[in-house]
Amino acid sequence: MDMIKLSNGVEMPLEGFGVFQVPDPSVCKQAVLDAIRVGNRLIDTAALYMNEEAVGAAIKEAIEMGMVTREELFITTKLWTSDASYEGAKKAFERSTKKLGLDYLDMFMIHQPYGDVYGAWKAMVELYNEGKIKALGVANFYPGKFTEFAEIVEVKPHVNQIELHPFYAQYDAIENMKQYGTVPQAWGPLAEGKHGIFTHPVLSEIGTKYGKTAAQIALKWNAQRGVSIIPKSVHKERMEQNIDIWDFTLTDEDMKKVDALDLGHSEIIDHNDPNVVKYILSAKADA
Ligand SMILES: NC(=O)c1ccc[n+]([C@@H]2O[C@H](COP(=O)([O-])OP(=O)(O)OC[C@H]3O[C@@H](n4cnc5c(N)ncnc54)[C@H](OP(=O)(O)O)[C@@H]3O)[C@@H](O)[C@H]2O)c1
Repeated sequence: MDMIKLSNGVEMPLEGFGVFQVPDPSVCKQAVLDAIRVGNRLIDTAALYMNEEAVGAAIKEAIEMGMVTREELFITTKLWTSDASYEGAKKAFERSTKKLGLDYLDMFMIHQPYGDVYGAWKAMVELYNEGKIKALGVANFYPGKFTEFAEIVEVKPHVNQIELHPFYAQYDAIENMKQYGTVPQAWGPLAEGKHGIFTHPVLSEIGTKYGKTAAQIALKWNAQRGVSIIPKSVHKERMEQNIDIWDFTLTDEDMKKVDALDLGHSEIIDHNDPNVVKYILSAKADA
């Protein structure tokens, strides 16, 4: 497993495990335990996912069982739009760390580019300076918003988590982030199963050469271009598959073949659609 050094020197695993859409506590706890057992060290949750307590229970059990130490883990959570303010971010940090059973976070992110993100960032930077957060991130900050934010704030985001997979490659957004030393992290690295990704002829054909699946080629392609990946699965055999991508390298030609699959737009969500913005603002996170 490769690690990537963030602009503040913190080492982050390039691959991790996401728990979006795993609301059932026992399913989530088991999934996180399995994810750690197969070798994942980065766990990505959010107040919105309503499963921070289950993630915390799994972390506690994994540490007690001697599978891993706290220091080996890299735990990310995110504050929701309802907490996008100075006071809100402070409260969100307390709430999330309590649910997770942690005294520090490896990464705290602003989940969406809405609300008083500058007030929230100020609070997050204070917590970072106190050593309670090791690195700071944003999510869904697309190039225009990301540039505005990164130009204005003093502590630049260490990570920006956006939708990145073979059908939405976003090379421009990645280049833009690099100007600020920000590491791109892919949400939906398996396109949430859309566009026939798991049986896609191009990905499958490339996979045959390396003895890998289409999913593994999609993940490796992102990792090989320096993008952190956090695939989700509640199936242990898929988790094993998703993390088994570190024993081969795609040729330049194969990278280009995957590049060519880019549709140039999302088939999952459009942050420029006013109805999507309203929907996001109306969604409720864990209280
Ligand atoms: N910041 C944001 O706004 C944002 C948005 C979305 C996601 N995220 C984060 O990114 C993580 C990953 O994104 P995602 O969960 O949306 O989608 P994803 O990881 O692209 O895809 C997950 C889907 O793929 C299936 N799957 C996983 N591995 C597979 C394999 N090897 N073969 C076949 N099917 C496989 C899973 O099914 P099973 O579970 O049934 O195996 C699930 O249906 C999330 O969990 C979350 O932590 C963040």
